Amino acid sequence: MTPQIYLDNAATTPIDPEVLDAMLPYFTEKYGNPEALHTKGKESLIAIDDARETTSKILNCRAREVIFCGTATEANNLAIFGTARANKDKGNHLITLKIEHSSVRRPFEQLEKEGFTVTYLDVDKEGFVNPDDIKNALTPETILVSVMYANNEIGTIEPIKEIGEILRDHQAYFHTDACQIPGAATLDTKALNVDMMTINGSKIYGPKGIGVLYINKEVKIEPIIFGSTHEYNLRAGTHNTPLIVGFAKALELTEKRDNKKVKALRNKLLDALLGKIARSHLNGPLENRLPNNINITIPGIHAQEILLHLDEAGIFVSTGAACNMGSEKPSKTLEAIGLDNKEILSSLRITLGKQTTEEDIDYVIETFPKIIEKLRNT
Ligand SMILES: Cc1ncc(COP(=O)(O)O)c(C=O)c1O
Repeated sequence: MTPQIYLDNAATTPIDPEVLDAMLPYFTEKYGNPEALHTKGKESLIAIDDARETTSKILNCRAREVIFCGTATEANNLAIFGTARANKDKGNHLITLKIEHSSVRRPFEQLEKEGFTVTYLDVDKEGFVNPDDIKNALTPETILVSVMYANNEIGTIEPIKEIGEILRDHQAYFHTDACQIPGAATLDTKALNVDMMTINGSKIYGPKGIGVLYINKEVKIEPIIFGSTHEYNLRAGTHNTPLIVGFAKALELTEKRDNKKVKALRNKLLDALLGKIARSHLNGPLENRLPNNINITIPGIHAQEILLHLDEAGIFVSTGAACNMGSEKPSKTLEAIGLDNKEILSSLRITLGKQTTEEDIDYVIETFPKIIEKLRNT
């Protein structure tokens, strides 16, 4: 029987059984609308309050600074549109990176159409932004800086704390898209000095379709969805209690997890692939990299072809960010670190998960190089 080895955990993770267990009663018995005044409503409200409390402890913030949204895409949109539009009177300059996820990059592109000026900063060959470049890009007109915590394609962990220090004495708000980081570095918003931070359930063995935005209480922000008064008037719409409960449980478990095993397996796989596949190279850094991430270029073969052959062998990987799949648009991240078009189209992302076993990795080490050899000889 063909195995099923899922190595696309940066796209999304399977749900943890403990998370599912925590969620289930809120689909079946505890289904009340948390806005309702009766007992059924209160049951849900208490669960949401608990989830907010759990989340706020991990983010080291106040419970009311945690805003539950539909997705991380929505949370990023709220952070960027919400602060840019609400602070127009203070300036019209915004700063971000060239390697941001599309849910950050596209709101900035939209804001350019609304009259804002955006600086898209370069990164180095390993994907790191130089904090001095942020310092130099700041003007008295800058009102928002958004820098991702960890890149979803090459796993580079950006120097968020250093950037937070630089921005301490500047009016600009500091937002970070932290979707890929939970479990790999601190989420302490005070230590990082971030004003806003996005995370979601789908990358942390929680449910998909739930995003969270931490918003410091001092931040001037306006909603992007209008309706009722939910989420302190910042995100109208009936709360999705099971997903909120599941998110908080998943975050709690993620924070307790140890990455040693995943990192050791990742290193074993990486060394084997680089050793066995001629001319292959790793994209992104070796240090300050997400422990589960490999991004590898295999010159001469189209990554989608490799992906399909791996798929036949029961190994599931990605050619880049999940949302770019199916499009031949070259990855902006790989472009920004200096890869040419051919190299970009020959690059694969392999992301391990907590469920990945040594046997899985041994099978991949045996199968992958053989597929490449076959493709190179045909
Ligand atoms: C860095 C990053 N930001 C944002 C998102 C969007 O998350 P969601 O699917 O919850 O909107 C993702 C997921 O692909 C991501 O990796």
